[in-house]
Amino acid sequence: MSTNKGCILWFTGLSGAGKSTLAEFVAPLLRDFGLKVEVLDGDEVRENLSKGLGFSKEDRDTNIRRIGFVANLLARNGVIAITAAISPYRPIRDEIRSKSQAPFVEIFVNAPLAVVEERDTKGLYRKARAGVLKQFTGVSDPYEEPLHPEVTVFTDREDIEESAAKVIAYLESQGLVPKGSAAKVRG
Ligand code: ADX
Repeated sequence: MSTNKGCILWFTGLSGAGKSTLAEFVAPLLRDFGLKVEVLDGDEVRENLSKGLGFSKEDRDTNIRRIGFVANLLARNGVIAITAAISPYRPIRDEIRSKSQAPFVEIFVNAPLAVVEERDTKGLYRKARAGVLKQFTGVSDPYEEPLHPEVTVFTDREDIEESAAKVIAYLESQGLVPKGSAAKVRG
């Protein structure tokens, strides 16, 4: 029988802020501590669970509620459920927090719009500015920053190890990962 305490690690932030990269970096670190981990990545969810949904407020809310529903099922069964979707609307994030049957850890992946737009890893900001992509978060659609996130990481000025260590230090402070985990990550 697993004695793991599950939880939801809810990464939120602009497209290109580094949510997926950080989620995929943290996941194997947690597995190395013997914990069960699943990642629900925004782009992957939209290929599968949310195929066909667009980017209206209604569709985004549906997408986020689905992710929250699955994350809760996993977390209450001892899995660390990591989500990495923009999840731009604060009330929906708060709704998922309030429904969660396991600890909900909101992680604000904070990178200035100017920085993610300059990187433009997927070339989408350029298309959004040109008006080809409508309702693009940060450009022509809102992003509501978390007011009281458990953890904030600054991906424009922290390296990934530093951001990951902040997440794991918080989990350690809550007894969600074994003692000494954060120190191992920092090396
Ligand atoms: S969310 O708003 O519903 O949380 P989600 O994280 O699933 O968004 O998907 C965001 C990804 O879809 C972006 O990283 C980007 O690659 C792509 N995308 C396509 N159109 C948009 C848009 N209008 N706004 C934001 N992201 C978009």
